[in-house]
Amino acid sequence: MLKWLVDAGADEALSAEPIDRYASAKAAPQTVDEKVVDRKSVETPRATPAPLPLRPVAVQPITAATASAREIAAACDSLEALRAALERFDGCALKTTAKSLVFAAGPADAPVMLIGEAPGRDEDLEGLPFVGRSGQLLDRMLEAIGLSRNTNAYITNVIFWRPPGNRPPSSEEVAICAPFFLRHIELKAPKVLVLLGATPVKHVLNIEEGITRARGRWGRYVASGIDIPALPTFHPAYLLRTPSAKRQVWQDLLNLKLKLRELGVG
Ligand code: URA
Repeated sequence: MLKWLVDAGADEALSAEPIDRYASAKAAPQTVDEKVVDRKSVETPRATPAPLPLRPVAVQPITAATASAREIAAACDSLEALRAALERFDGCALKTTAKSLVFAAGPADAPVMLIGEAPGRDEDLEGLPFVGRSGQLLDRMLEAIGLSRNTNAYITNVIFWRPPGNRPPSSEEVAICAPFFLRHIELKAPKVLVLLGATPVKHVLNIEEGITRARGRWGRYVASGIDIPALPTFHPAYLLRTPSAKRQVWQDLLNLKLKLRELGVG
């Protein structure tokens, strides 16, 4: 039966509980108005959830590597200078096992900046973020709300080199990359940030809320004279494993589209 459903195109669950449409149709035939309300609830974001608390930028432990990263990142005055500084930087051990630096993709003047965790195998081979399976899903998600890395979306990661075997980055690796990814946000100065998954949410917003509690709630990245709205959502790799979460991410995408419209850039 499952194979038949998948072959027929029903390859994802939209809700945790099954819905008996025959029973509900018999019990209460829908009026035209109810249908309109129903459709609206799918096409527009739900009531705005509470914003995330505003926290100061996280203070990283001072080690020789973090101190040097901070000094080098602060001296960069353009995105090109930051990329060049990362190419020269030898303070992060991940560089010794990775093939390439994975800096960013997308136009420098894009209004939206998306931040993921760390490059995987495909990204390491190509030197570009989000080009593997989760990147292809991300591109389709962006396309659904009129965004694309070719025109108006800029994509990067918290970590610039692939961790061996795609393991999660250690807290030392995040601490060393932090001055660079924070400077990256300041130099890019997007209108809106989208944080993909728990790692960028924790390290960009410095909040304790896990991704499940934080997603869909607007936070702000406030530092060095900039104040940027930031929206956490699930990482596309999580969506590949958990297709039922696509429904929540669709709400987040609609929320993002609305914000871009409010800001006059969407
Ligand atoms: N996952 C990420 O977080 N970043 C990438 O670039 C690819 C996969």
